[in-house]
Amino acid sequence: MRNEAAQPIIRTLLDHVATGEPWRTTETTVPAYEYTDPDHLALEHEKVFKGQPQLIGLSVDIPEPGSYVTRDQFGLPLILSRGDDGQAHVLANVCAHRGAEVLTAQRGCERRFTCPYHAWAYSPDGTHVGLPDPTSFPSVAVPGPGMVELAVAEENGLIFTVPELGATMPDLQLGPMADDFDHLASLGTRHWRTYRFDLAMNWKLVVDTFLEGYHFAYLHKSTVGPIFVPNLGFAERFGPHLREVLARRTIGELADQDPETWDIVEHSALVYVLFPATVYVINIDHVETWRVHPHPTDPGLTVVDLDFYVPDGPITESSERHWELNWKLTIDTVRDEDLEAMAGAQRGLASGALEKLTFGANEPALALFHQSINDALSS
Ligand SMILES: [Fe+2]
Repeated sequence: MRNEAAQPIIRTLLDHVATGEPWRTTETTVPAYEYTDPDHLALEHEKVFKGQPQLIGLSVDIPEPGSYVTRDQFGLPLILSRGDDGQAHVLANVCAHRGAEVLTAQRGCERRFTCPYHAWAYSPDGTHVGLPDPTSFPSVAVPGPGMVELAVAEENGLIFTVPELGATMPDLQLGPMADDFDHLASLGTRHWRTYRFDLAMNWKLVVDTFLEGYHFAYLHKSTVGPIFVPNLGFAERFGPHLREVLARRTIGELADQDPETWDIVEHSALVYVLFPATVYVINIDHVETWRVHPHPTDPGLTVVDLDFYVPDGPITESSERHWELNWKLTIDTVRDEDLEAMAGAQRGLASGALEKLTFGANEPALALFHQSINDALSS
C-alpha cells in the first residue's frame, strides 16, 4: 500500500493503540444454517460463485513464455500458461483427441505442451501444433484449434479466470486495492511452496478465520499472538472485496517517525479478500494466497490451496532456512490452531445448538465479508 493511502489508516491504528480500545463498527449476526444447509450452499454456488472471477494464480507463477501451472479444483481441469507473445492463457487441460490430461505436473515450463497419451502437441496458448500420423486425421487442422480457452484477466500481478466454459470476464472491481497489489508485487516474486488442505468445514469458516484479531491473544498465545496488537483490526470494503489491516506491536514506533516515511507493510499483516473466496495475505516479507473452494454439494467440506511466495534473491542455505521457519509458523498457526478451531465450530454449528453466530463490533472485516455475500445472494 502506498504511503499516502496508508497514512490515515496508520493514524487510526496509532490512536487505538494509545487508548487500548479496538476499532469498532457495529455488532451483526449470521444465521447458523448458512454454514450447514445444502440448499444454502447451492444458492451460494448460483449467486456468489457462478460467473465470478476467481484468482487462479499470480503473474510470477508463469514468469516466461511456456511457463504453466495446473489447477484441479474448479470442477474442470485447468492450465494457466504464458503464451509465446507474453499473454496469460487459461486452458481446459483436456486433449482435443480423446480427452486425456495434457499436462500432469503441477508446474513447469515447456515450449510445447504434449499429451502423454498420443503425443498431440499444443503451443502454450492452446493452439494445436502437431500430432503423429496426421494423414489418419483428415478433419484435424494443424495449426488449428486445440485446447479450449477460458476467460482470463491479468492485472497488477494477479491472474483471474471464470472457471466455466464459455463464460466472459466481468469487471474485476479491484478499485483502489489494485494499486496495493502493484506496489507490493515486488515482495512476492518467487513461488516457494504449495500446500493443499482438505477440510471438514464450510468454506466461509476458512475465510472468516482471517478476518479478526480478537482471537490472537487466546488461540494464538504461543504462536503469532505476541507479535500483534491484540483485538485491533481496521477494515474497508471495495466493491465486493475487502482489505483488513492487523497491526503488529511494532506499529507504535511509527508515532515518533515522519509520516512520509511510514511503511505499513513492516508493521502489519495485510489481509485482502478477493471476493468471493481468495484470501491474499502480505506478511512483511512474503505473500500467501489461500484459494478456497467449496464442495459442490456438501456445505461441510472445503478444499483450500495455499501458495507461498517469497522475494527474489539468491537461494542460499540461510534464505531457505528463513522461509522454512516462516512456513512452519504459518502452518502451526493456521492449520493447527485456526483450522482446528474452525473444524470444531463446524461440528458445533451442525449440532443445531446455536441459532446464529455473532460478530462483535470489534470484528469489522467479518461484517463486511458477510455483507458482500448477502449483496451477492440478493442480486
Ligand atoms: Fe487466527
